[in-house]
Amino acid sequence: MAVRKIKSGIYWVGSLDWDRRLFDELIPLPDGTTYNAYIVEGEKTALIDTVDPTKESELVENLSQWGGSIDFVIANHAEQDHSGSIPAVLELFPQAKVVTNPKCKGMLMDSLLIPEEKFMTIKDGDTLSLGERTLQSFMTPWVHWPETMVTYLKEERILFSCDFLGSHLATSELFVRDKERVVESAKRYYAEIMMPFRTSIKSHLQKVDALKVDIIAPSHGPLYDEPQFILDCYREWVSDTVKNEVILPFVSMHGSTRAMVDYLIDALMSRDITVKPFNLTRTDTGELAKALVDAATIVIACPTVLAGPHPAAVYAAYLAGALRPKTKIVGIIGSYGWGGKTVEVLSQLIGNLQVEVLDPVMIKGYPEKEGFRLLDNLADEILKRHRALKI
Ligand code: FEO
Repeated sequence: MAVRKIKSGIYWVGSLDWDRRLFDELIPLPDGTTYNAYIVEGEKTALIDTVDPTKESELVENLSQWGGSIDFVIANHAEQDHSGSIPAVLELFPQAKVVTNPKCKGMLMDSLLIPEEKFMTIKDGDTLSLGERTLQSFMTPWVHWPETMVTYLKEERILFSCDFLGSHLATSELFVRDKERVVESAKRYYAEIMMPFRTSIKSHLQKVDALKVDIIAPSHGPLYDEPQFILDCYREWVSDTVKNEVILPFVSMHGSTRAMVDYLIDALMSRDITVKPFNLTRTDTGELAKALVDAATIVIACPTVLAGPHPAAVYAAYLAGALRPKTKIVGIIGSYGWGGKTVEVLSQLIGNLQVEVLDPVMIKGYPEKEGFRLLDNLADEILKRHRALKI
């Protein structure tokens, strides 16, 4: 790895993780990720965030290549992919203080066993002078943990935003050059961890808008030297506007539910509704999460097994409930052999969503004329509601 210059006295000293394919043992990372850490030099020098402990040696090598001394380690977030190498940095620079908010301090003491005397706590709006440069902290809780904050370098107008506005994308580009690729990664990342906190994210965007920002330097993915690009994307994602789309996660054991899915896809397409099916036995859950960001409707298609919904559909329904998308309408369809509680269980799993649940279409065995008529009715009901939403 190499130290990369952002501006005079401001350097990237992080790590690229080309090979990582899973985060939190949960989130697929098809494009790897980066752990961005930054040096800001002045009379005093700050390191902003560190790297995942698996990449600690790369950070240490970069700091050695840079060759300076660190007075402050700014911890924007306690999650280990940014904080996990703080103990190693404190060993190299024993005089350094960890600068963070009280909640993050507590979490770092709990999870990394950093002694209390190593900390300097700050609150929303506080500034830290580095001499000719000034860092200002802003609390941005629930991006996606309760202690998250961002750091603003006033003189150069750089916002170090940590997870906020970032993307899981390993790329050799320091600054965003392939916007299309970055927006897909950033949207996926927003969907996976920030979507449940949409209301908080909206207010954080207002905080950013109040600052003059020339560069956004997140802790994952490339930096933005055209910050409005990613801010506009986020504004759209957190808005209440939904698209004329149906997300259709499905699983089928013997083809009956699949026949219903195929029929409903055609029925929706013939009504000019975009439909995105996800075969739950194969799908990447990150792609499903991303699709949930702005679709008006979700229809879960699921056979009954062991007297209830297929476990793959249970997972999808649980995920939708946990991610709390701005979806307005939900439908449940599927096939059963003799009975079961599929609709009841799935309805409970999405019970926290502020949605209208349409009449389910559950068919005994393989669908026939009456079953297809019910699916046409369902497509009509979805169309009616999308029109009412003026989408
Ligand atoms: Fe990139 Fe929440 O850590």
